[in-house]
Amino acid sequence: MKSCAISLAALVAASAFADPNTMPLEEVASRIPHETSEETAARLSWWTEARFGMFIHFGLYAMPARHEWIRNYEEISNEDYEKYFERFDPDLFDAGEWARAAKAAGMKYVVLTTKHHEGFCMFDSKVTDYKITNTPFGRDLVAEFVEAVRAEGLKVGFYYSLLDWHHPDFTVDGLHPLRNGDVDKLNEGRDMARYRQYMKDQVTELLTNYGKIDIMWFDFSYPRNDKWGKGRDDWDSPGLLTLARTLQPGIIVDNRMDLNDVENGFDFMTPEQFKVTEWPTHNGRRHPWETCQTFSGSWGYFRDETSWKSDAQCLDLLISTVAHGGNLIMNVGPTARGEFDGRARERLDGYGRWMHANSRSIYGCTEAPEGFEAPEHSVLTYNPKTNRLYIHLFHYPAGQLGVKFGSRIAYAQFLHDGSEIQVKPMPDWQAKASDSTGYDSYLNFPVLKPAVEIPVIECYLK
Ligand code: GLC
Repeated sequence: MKSCAISLAALVAASAFADPNTMPLEEVASRIPHETSEETAARLSWWTEARFGMFIHFGLYAMPARHEWIRNYEEISNEDYEKYFERFDPDLFDAGEWARAAKAAGMKYVVLTTKHHEGFCMFDSKVTDYKITNTPFGRDLVAEFVEAVRAEGLKVGFYYSLLDWHHPDFTVDGLHPLRNGDVDKLNEGRDMARYRQYMKDQVTELLTNYGKIDIMWFDFSYPRNDKWGKGRDDWDSPGLLTLARTLQPGIIVDNRMDLNDVENGFDFMTPEQFKVTEWPTHNGRRHPWETCQTFSGSWGYFRDETSWKSDAQCLDLLISTVAHGGNLIMNVGPTARGEFDGRARERLDGYGRWMHANSRSIYGCTEAPEGFEAPEHSVLTYNPKTNRLYIHLFHYPAGQLGVKFGSRIAYAQFLHDGSEIQVKPMPDWQAKASDSTGYDSYLNFPVLKPAVEIPVIECYLK
């Protein structure tokens, strides 16, 4: 996010020294449904088991194809943005294809932008004309999406932007496309109370008209104690969250409503676009977390972007995330014709090929128990239910690989083909020659690396 030379991290940091919210914390907390941490864990269990989902960012911004923040970056007014609305027609859109692509990649849930910051609604909302059914496309894309995703046995999620750069009541702030205009004048007559009601009406539509919705992904807050930012008072976050939980009791909600300091104010943390290297904590507590990542940098379709990650980099993100107890949600930005473009499809295929034979090291897995140190150039995951440990070989060893937990391994095999990997005790003379290493055993590898991007050793533990 480059706009105004301000990153999301900077926004969040800036908000740390100024709490603009006026509602007392106890009051905020009292308005949110209470739940014990055991109840929360049970509600989230399918999600923590799933580990891997797909994000889809689709909206009018697919047409300019140069970032979903284009309205902010290029300071585009409603009027100048209208040319996309008038011509939006993703004629190649096939919800079934999207859902099948997610499933083939090994993903277990799909979260779609129902409205992004541009304000355009991908569903047939009764409270606005600025919606997909009023474009040449004319169909409720959200409805088709929900049905197709469910038909593939995947869970359904809605992303909903708290920001809205099109709505006439959304006040012009530091991120708004019109921020460099006469802000006071522009804000005359704008009424955030009406906008709050608009959001509630839309969340009610989304969580009433489309059956069971599994995830609600609200995005995002940038609280400041001046006109510049917006936070939980501006959104009425406790009200919105309570509404979501009431309409869909099982729903899982992210942490971008500015309720991080409130008990039960969110379900999971959302580190964005950086590789997490240890389980994130908040107030000293480990929370469920999901990192959201892109293949190439932007979330919406960006025609000229060349910074596409390799298959190995994409797999690294997935494996390393699970290794620290998190979920990965990987994004696709469909083209203005409504398809996943070739570069996205290639990367999804990369996931699919690997997951086909290696998903056992991902689903239901988490951080390795204490005392298991990852061997050189490898990353560990662990399935507590089956008591199996997975060694992901990011760099294929030349022959043997020393391990410090060999005495705990009952049997080891390559995960992709189930062929045995022998575990040999470190010979005495070896141990003596290098007694500083602490290895008790070594795994004996074939010299040739198998044809798997990142080979995995599955260890049955004693
Ligand atoms: C950010 C961006 C946005 C994207 C989102 C996904 O907050 O504003 O464009 O939708 O992150 O996590």
